Amino acid sequence: MKEKMESIKKELEEKIKNIKSDADLSNLKAEFLGKKGKVKELTTLLKDLKDEEKKEFGKNLNEIKTYVEGVFANKQEEFKNKVLEEKLKKESIDVTLPGTTIKTGAPNILEGMIEDLEELFISMGYDVVEGPEIELDLYNFELLNLPKGHPARDAQDTFYTKDDKLLLRSQTSPVQIRTMLANEEKSPIKIVCPGKTYRRDYDDATHSHQFMQMEGLLVDKDISLADLKGTWDIIAKHLFGEDTTTRFRSSFYPFTEPSVELDVSCFNCHGDGCAICKDTGYITVGGAGMVHPKVLENCGYNPEEMSGFAFGFGLERLAMLKYGINDIRLFYTNDLRVNPDRKDV
Ligand code: DAH
Repeated sequence: MKEKMESIKKELEEKIKNIKSDADLSNLKAEFLGKKGKVKELTTLLKDLKDEEKKEFGKNLNEIKTYVEGVFANKQEEFKNKVLEEKLKKESIDVTLPGTTIKTGAPNILEGMIEDLEELFISMGYDVVEGPEIELDLYNFELLNLPKGHPARDAQDTFYTKDDKLLLRSQTSPVQIRTMLANEEKSPIKIVCPGKTYRRDYDDATHSHQFMQMEGLLVDKDISLADLKGTWDIIAKHLFGEDTTTRFRSSFYPFTEPSVELDVSCFNCHGDGCAICKDTGYITVGGAGMVHPKVLENCGYNPEEMSGFAFGFGLERLAMLKYGINDIRLFYTNDLRVNPDRKDV
């Protein structure tokens, strides 16, 4: 028995040295540990043994079985490690290589500007309010002191729905009306309202049938034009830089009295005169004024007690000036270059 065991061990050690593949290994395993394998064969010796020898035999049998199984397990492990090693060699990563640039999106230029302005106004205590794009003629015109037949209505060629009571708002100013009407205590108001507006314009580089405005309204006791000027100054400096100066030009809007045009010093020539400012040194970006007493009255405010200022500007126009974009239609195409944050396009 001992000799047989030794020869099995030797034979196994010899043969396993030459094993190169998994398939060969499992064949060899069958040869030694299979049903008719060499280890099993040893049990045939059992029948010729005396009872007292059988115990010793069993022990030896177990020993050789464990030994053979161990040899195979080691070899298997060796194979596994080799495969892993080869895989790691092949897949080695050069961490010094530059990474692949992933193109990421960035906020739409208008959205970015709206968010930036909203933050500025919120920091000054304003609320951001929105209104519907399908609006009542009553709010878009009538209560803003633009009764039917008023010549100023023509300036805002309007899209009406099936009757003349509903329209696509031609300005964000009706949000002023909505906010004042909704304020039951007729308490002070400080709001800005960004949103889409619509006019029956032919689309070209500077006109679009749909564009965005930001409206502002401040109502309180003892508000004067000086408050509007100060506020406009803060907005202009925020948008175009600290060295920007502002100017009011007298104007007319039916819902403000007095009314002004909001001008900023030309960011290009700083007032010297150039093509962008048409040699005036200033650029007009919006309208404003003191809320007309009639408008306050229309919304239930007593103009003897409260006063306010309002302003409105076109956001595309601001963005075009700020970022040097020369065609308003670009905002509504998928041209990714209309985005100052994109360095990779
Ligand atoms: N709604 C005006 C427009 O679309 C802009 C405007 C002018 C808004 C004066 C105002 C304002 O609030 O006071 O042309």
